Amino acid sequence: MPGTDIRPNLASPNTGVVITGGASGLGFASARALAAVGRAVALWDIDGARAESAAGQVRSEFGVAAIGLAVDVRDPHAIKEAAEASRAALPSIGGIVHCAGIVDTASLEGITIESWDDGINIHLRPIVLLLQAFLEDLKSNPGSAVVATASINATLGNAVNPIYTAAKGGVLSLVRSLADRLAKDGIRVNSVSPGQIMTPMMKPSVDALPDRYFEKRILMERIGEPEEIGRVVRFLLSDEASYITASEIVVDGGNISSQR
Ligand SMILES: NC(=O)c1ccc[n+]([C@@H]2O[C@H](COP(=O)([O-])OP(=O)(O)OC[C@H]3O[C@@H](n4cnc5c(N)ncnc54)[C@H](O)[C@@H]3O)[C@@H](O)[C@H]2O)c1
Repeated sequence: MPGTDIRPNLASPNTGVVITGGASGLGFASARALAAVGRAVALWDIDGARAESAAGQVRSEFGVAAIGLAVDVRDPHAIKEAAEASRAALPSIGGIVHCAGIVDTASLEGITIESWDDGINIHLRPIVLLLQAFLEDLKSNPGSAVVATASINATLGNAVNPIYTAAKGGVLSLVRSLADRLAKDGIRVNSVSPGQIMTPMMKPSVDALPDRYFEKRILMERIGEPEEIGRVVRFLLSDEASYITASEIVVDGGNISSQR
C-alpha cells in the first residue's frame, strides 16, 4: 500500500494517461513529465496534426507509447470515440488530465450564447464526460487519479474573462463533488490552479501588457514555466500523492496570496 511506503513513487502507478489539450502548453508539459517516468500517454487536442506531432516528440524523447488524436472536447460523441481509440492504443488507462482550454477576452458586454457554451463545454463538461468514458478503466487500475486544470482566476475576480472565471470556479467545485463520489472506487480527483505560465495561451497577454505587468504582483517576481505545472500534475497522478483528493493545488509563484 503506497500510504506506508516511504520510497520515491513518482513512477507508480505505471498506467497510461489521457491528456486533453495535450498538443500545447501545460498539457504537453504534463505529457513530457509523465513520459519521463515511463507512463504512456494519449494526447487529445482539437488540433489533430499538432497532437500527432507532440506524441511523436514524446515517443522519441522518452521511448514510451504515445498517441495523438484529433478531439474536440465540446463533442460528447468525439470523446467516446477517442476513449475507444486510446484504450486500444495504450497498455492501460489509470490517469486523466484535462488541460484543453480557451480564454474569452470580451468581458460582460461581449458574452454571447455561443461563447458562454464554448467556455463551459470546453473547461467544465468534459471532466464529467471523460470520467463517464473511463470509469471502468480507472476503477480497475489501483492508484488511478484525475487532474483538472482550474486557474487562480477561479479565486481572483477578473472583469476581462467572466466565462473563463466561472468555468474555472466550476472546476474547483466539480472536483470536490467527483472526489466524494469516486473515493470509494479508489480514484483520487484534484485540481491544479496555475498562475501566469508562459504558454501560447498566455503569451499574447504578456506581449500586449506593459513590461513586467504580471511580475510585480507575483511574490517570486517571475512568470512560471509549463514544466513547473507538468511536475505537479505528475505528482498528483502518482502514489506520492496517495492521500490527496478533492484538493486544489495552487502553483502561482505566490500570486493569489500577494498584497503587492
Ligand atoms: N498558461 C497559463 O498561464 C494558465 C493559467 C491558468 C490556467 N491555465 C489553464 O491551463 C490549461 C492549458 O492552457 P495552456 O496555457 O497550456 O494553453 P494552450 O493554448 O497552450 O493549450 C491549450 C490547448 O487546448 C486545445 N484546445 C482548445 N480548445 C479545444 C477543444 N475544444 N477540444 C480539444 N482541445 C482544445 C488547444 O488546441 C491547445 O492545444 C487551460 O485550461 C488553461 O485555462 C493556463
